[in-house]
Amino acid sequence: MSKLVLIGFMGTGKSTVSKLLSEKVGCTRIDGDEEIERLENKRVSDIFASDGEAGFRIIETKVLGTILEREDTCVVATGGGAVLSPINRELMLKNGFVVALKASPDQIIARVKTDTERPLLQGDAEERVNLLLKQREHAYDFAHFTIDTTNMSVEEVVAAILEQWSLHK
Ligand code: S3P
Repeated sequence: MSKLVLIGFMGTGKSTVSKLLSEKVGCTRIDGDEEIERLENKRVSDIFASDGEAGFRIIETKVLGTILEREDTCVVATGGGAVLSPINRELMLKNGFVVALKASPDQIIARVKTDTERPLLQGDAEERVNLLLKQREHAYDFAHFTIDTTNMSVEEVVAAILEQWSLHK
């Protein structure tokens, strides 16, 4: 089954959008980070602390592969860095309709700055977001469809994605 795969930088709304999408479509949603935490029985931040980012990425690729093969799932939310691996990008494109969520740096910063959980944003969150956004400037360009959610409601974003998905099917 072709899945809706959401990609995007941290704080672009992947979790919220994926929840409403799965409700509207009436199918199961899986969040990559939640699945990693469930299978590893560890928080993402603890995996980063014990195995480093490289260790986390290995687990992320393994888990993404199994999620994308599951027949019972149709909406998949991925972690913001899942797109960095060419293997992951290929897996996503092969198994689904890939949707990139974008948001303005200001909105991203407003959403993530109070979050103490995200290991890559430790320290000055604003500085970290700006640096990572620059490093990942084109990382999400491989998506079938890109949507800037900055001035949109979740309902509008979901409607736009479903419209594009129906054209793609
Ligand atoms: C990461 C994003 C996080 C999580 C991990 C690494 C990234 O997911 O996978 O902290 O590299 O951008 P969210 O995008 O859901 O915050």
